[in-house]
Amino acid sequence: MTQKQNHIPVREPASGSTPRHVAVIMDGNGRWAKGQGEERLYGHRHGVDTVREVVRTAAEAGIEYLTIYAFSTENWGRPEAEVDGIMSLIAGAILSELDTLTGAGIRMNFIGDLASLPQALRESIRKARAADIPDEKLRMTLNVALNYSARWELTEATRQIGERIRRGDLTPEEITPELISAHLTTAGMPDPELLIRTSGEQRLSNFLLWQLSYTELYFTETLWPEFDGAQFTKALEAYRQRERRFGRL
Ligand code: IPE
Ligand code: IPE
Ligand code: MG
Repeated sequence: MTQKQNHIPVREPASGSTPRHVAVIMDGNGRWAKGQGEERLYGHRHGVDTVREVVRTAAEAGIEYLTIYAFSTENWGRPEAEVDGIMSLIAGAILSELDTLTGAGIRMNFIGDLASLPQALRESIRKARAADIPDEKLRMTLNVALNYSARWELTEATRQIGERIRRGDLTPEEITPELISAHLTTAGMPDPELLIRTSGEQRLSNFLLWQLSYTELYFTETLWPEFDGAQFTKALEAYRQRERRFGRL
């Protein structure tokens, strides 16, 4: 293997600029609700309001891709009533926001193991996908990670690559970092330059492990329902102060 093929494919450092792609782990809905003396679902409902504001702020800031972690493959381990509540909340939010987002040139794209989602949610996704935004009107892509985990994604990609090798249209020597990226759910998109996680937890929780290899991480104690556009802007500002080195000097 040549030196070049060993390189992690990263773009030139973009210190001082606005990121093209921001990923967000929206965390702390349950704790926020508890603090209000309410059920966890009350927190998830307020979390949707935060999503609306952050999406608008991101689009106004000129961000091209916003990827939000809405439901992980591990979240099925929660009580059934909470899982059901989250699923119908997301299904409803997709439909109620669809026209506004489409009008604003924001395209919803869904990443994750969508086939095993409840029927009503799959139906919402189908409608959102049918919304057509011409290229010249496209302002931002909102990736909604649903029943997503990075290990699921990397397993799927590996299977697809294996299948191509079995069919004879790929050799093992042709597997490069770029080829792997092209088999992920984010194929064709730049890797996130910035990851935001709310609620004080400092972990990735199985989110975009490959894509976050060189991402700047921003953690805030703020719980997701209390996060807002101003705090998102503050995170962008913090990103602009970072010096990205990519292993160089
Ligand atoms: C994030 O908030 C939303 C989802 C994971 C669906 P949580 O529900 O994880 O809230 P906390 O972390 O328990 O407070
Ligand atoms: C990560 O939050 C998943 C989402 C935000 C959808 P979790 O609350 O599920 O993660 P852990 O359990 O704290 O790692
Ligand atoms: Mg949590």
